[in-house]
Amino acid sequence: MKLLLTNIKELLQIREDRLEKVSGKAMSELPTLKDAWLLIEDGRIADFGKMTDLKPLGSIETIDCTGKLVLPAWCDSHTHLVYAGNREQEFVDRINGLSYQEIAEKGGGILNSAKKLQNTSEEELYRQSAERLEEVMKLGTGAIEIKSGYGLTTEAELKMLRVAKKLGENYPITVKTTFLGAHAVPSEYKGNKDGYLDLICNEMLPKVASEKLADYVDIFCEEGYFSVADTDRLLSEAKKYNLIPKIHVNQFNAIGGIAMGVQHKALSVDHLEVLTEADIQALQNSQTMPVALPSCSYFLSIPYTPGRELISAGLPLALATDYNPGSTPSGNMNFVVATACIKMKLTPEEAINAATINGAYAMGLSATHGSITKGKKANVIITKPIPSYGYLPYAFGSNLIDTVLINGEKV
Ligand code: NIG
Ligand code: FE
Repeated sequence: MKLLLTNIKELLQIREDRLEKVSGKAMSELPTLKDAWLLIEDGRIADFGKMTDLKPLGSIETIDCTGKLVLPAWCDSHTHLVYAGNREQEFVDRINGLSYQEIAEKGGGILNSAKKLQNTSEEELYRQSAERLEEVMKLGTGAIEIKSGYGLTTEAELKMLRVAKKLGENYPITVKTTFLGAHAVPSEYKGNKDGYLDLICNEMLPKVASEKLADYVDIFCEEGYFSVADTDRLLSEAKKYNLIPKIHVNQFNAIGGIAMGVQHKALSVDHLEVLTEADIQALQNSQTMPVALPSCSYFLSIPYTPGRELISAGLPLALATDYNPGSTPSGNMNFVVATACIKMKLTPEEAINAATINGAYAMGLSATHGSITKGKKANVIITKPIPSYGYLPYAFGSNLIDTVLINGEKV
């Protein structure tokens, strides 16, 4: 199966080499080719070049991209896309003055979603989640990470991960799964956090591992949830099952979780709305990717991750949605890229790097996703006719996507 894209106004994020990620100043470079063609063969990027150099290829299926840009599909490295029901009542409560933390203390928040999920069948959970997955694929996402963490019982956590895995099997999009049993202390363990951690370590982790349900392990390292010591305990235990950490940290408070994540060779540390100098130092000379989730900041009206500071410190940065029913009921990576530019003052080049190659890195997928590179998966966005790539974050409210290809197939 061959497919040729011709007359591409600008082909973005061309990386000839097998680049893992971009950091610091290099984030402001976005290699492109104007007036280009792209050849797809068997779901992979076979070749690309300038229109002036295009040799006749015989009669193959062709998409004329006159006036349109082509870029790698988004790599969304942090979502909770598998969940049951919604929490729009809590949204209204927040409008009326309650804080996110106050709602959680009243038994809302994560525990509210856990109750809903426990009472939802696996088939129904799959149906609701598949609807969201189809939506984000149409919005240009070509690889996605999905976490558990709304089960909080062994049975319900496994159910979530089975649904996430099945989505990856049934859809062309690449899905990576993360076990987030330590998302909150369930009500049955109120006042007995250590008892719940025992359950996670002695029962959940071994089952998740033996059924090969997760690629990564996560914990919500935050005041009122799990401490740095809890994080150390869980990540040490998870290492026995070769589960690499990707952790929730520094959302509301800086308590030293970033250094702990780095110590455990976390692939990524996510949220980082609150950052100290010590946190930045901990990230330097590490292989850990900092991940910002600007639509969470937008929805909760909390600070934005100081992305500029991270980049100035020579660090890389990835952008993801955090799609979940409580803090970010949106899986739209186009909005994330625009919000990173508008609110975090990232340049379009930096934001596109953060949402493609660096997002791929935060899922262990840089060898196959995140750039226009020969041999990588043919996951691309074809935009509508637009003046330039700066127009993508600029016209933040418009749908600028014409076509999404995943493995070379139209979504
Ligand atoms: O990443 N911060 C922790 N977990 C989720 C939100 C959980 C919820 O409110 O349901 C997040 O924002
Ligand atoms: Fe999250």
